[in-house]
Amino acid sequence: MTTSERASQDTPGIKSTQEKITDLHQLRSDAMQGGGPKRIEAQHKKGKLTARERIDLLLDPDTFNELDMFVTHRSSDFGLDEQRIPGDGVVTGYGQIDGRLVYVFSQDFTVFGGSLSEAHAEKICKIMDLAMKNGAPVIGLNDSGGARIQEGVVSLGAYADIFLRNTLASGVVPQISAIMGPCAGGAVYSPAITDFIFMVEETSYMFVTGPNVLKAVTHEDVTFEDLGGARVHNATSGVAHFACPSEPECIRQIRQLMSFIPSNNLDDAPHVTPKDSPRRADEVLDSIIPDNPSKPYDITEVIRHVVDDGDFFEVQAHFAKNIIVGFARLNGRSVGIVAQQPRALAGVLDINASDKAARFVRFCDCFNIPIITFVDVPGFLPGVGQEHNGIIRHGAKLLYAYCEATVPKITVITRKAYGGAYDVMSSKHVRGDINYAWPTAEIAVMGAEGAVNILFKDEIEHAANPEQRRKELIADYIEKFANPYIAASRGYIDEVIEPRFTRMKLINALEMLKNKRDTNPPKKHGNIPL
Ligand code: HXC
Repeated sequence: MTTSERASQDTPGIKSTQEKITDLHQLRSDAMQGGGPKRIEAQHKKGKLTARERIDLLLDPDTFNELDMFVTHRSSDFGLDEQRIPGDGVVTGYGQIDGRLVYVFSQDFTVFGGSLSEAHAEKICKIMDLAMKNGAPVIGLNDSGGARIQEGVVSLGAYADIFLRNTLASGVVPQISAIMGPCAGGAVYSPAITDFIFMVEETSYMFVTGPNVLKAVTHEDVTFEDLGGARVHNATSGVAHFACPSEPECIRQIRQLMSFIPSNNLDDAPHVTPKDSPRRADEVLDSIIPDNPSKPYDITEVIRHVVDDGDFFEVQAHFAKNIIVGFARLNGRSVGIVAQQPRALAGVLDINASDKAARFVRFCDCFNIPIITFVDVPGFLPGVGQEHNGIIRHGAKLLYAYCEATVPKITVITRKAYGGAYDVMSSKHVRGDINYAWPTAEIAVMGAEGAVNILFKDEIEHAANPEQRRKELIADYIEKFANPYIAASRGYIDEVIEPRFTRMKLINALEMLKNKRDTNPPKKHGNIPL
């Protein structure tokens, strides 16, 4: 018999250590129940996992350390004093993904609809503070009805405590949000400040004001899915970056994303030894550009032929398809790729493409991920709609993002680099470190037809055979300007390379730039056109 067991026998009412451990097990087991079996069943019926099941899938086995399991709210209004559920609707703690430390919070919809109380927010803030001190990412699994209505302004303040931390952590540690249920009101703004938003098709929604309020206020009749489902936020609003067919797939993709990014702004992304040789030449690339310059091709094919093992992890695949962004590796090193997609709107730069690429470039720059830019751009999209909606302001974001980025920047012009878009797309002039062009590159102020129509308007009008003359002038212009050699003669292009050697050339340049140090002038922060 142990001393404490003897003491408990001697003193009635005092529990032995073993009894206290049994009590702890009971308390833990109660907390694990969240909102109880009925609500868990309802959650499963909707095709959703519970907060803990999600964490189990996200983290390496047996690495989760839960914190604050017994935290409860401190409210008493609206009968809340009779409903204190341990954990208060959010499971928080730390664990590992592929052996790397991450902090995680997972909202429990079975407890007050995952709504955010003061105590619930304090738990989230605690792990965010730890993440900042220890330089590790924060992953939020969101499933919440927003501010806990019964707590009033206290829950609004609690949201702001999180928004502040999201903002201070931005650019210091990666922040990833998964939307795994309804996220209403304040519940959307914390994810919106984070770096990447994943949504699950059919079961996740994001909106500031829900369909019922809309009906009353604006008389608009809209479903949850059509207002703020995964499809809408991935394809139309651009709020989200990934749409996943199920929760397990969503969690798998979060783990995959993590493999490309570092744990903090002072760290490097994990090195993954490729099966691919760094010197692999790829003849397919020599014939990928059609002879006809107006014919499209698929730039993702180029990317896959260049990067390690053909592994390209695309980000925001459904939004602004005229520009492609995503992560890949070159000789084991993570890179961010930005590339025009000639198959969508001829790869033109428009408002959405500018926003999408600018945010991605800035993410890479925050987290020391070199940027590889593939350029085939006919220019900015003309149109009243684009002008009135601010293509100047939005295009300026991309320009600004490339200009301020100090990570290694390597550019490959595959075909068109026309007009202002040439400048924007990581040109030498905005501190591109190494700028390659394929022999198929056309670097000019504009396409041949447009240029000839402006420069030789009178001459064509007065020619004996205007069409014949126009054709001759276009041919002359193409011969003279639709190539990379004028830019190369100025040093704007460092090397004209055969497409098949692109992989090797990029890897050589990355290796050469691996100790690159560049800085911007000291300032509080710049004023990016928002
Ligand atoms: C307290 C809430 C809640 C909330 C849901 N619940 N949202 N409790 N505060 N915000 C509770 C419900 O009362 C219910 O409790 C349980 O959670 C499940 O909710 P249901 O409505 O039964 O589920 P469902 O039909 O799936 O609908 C989910 C929902 C809906 C779409 C999220 O509950 C809803 O519209 N909630 C309110 C959303 C909202 O307007 N939030 C904005 C808050 S203001 P019982 O006990 O019945 O199971 C805000 C501003 C912050 O967030 C601004 C910061 C910038």
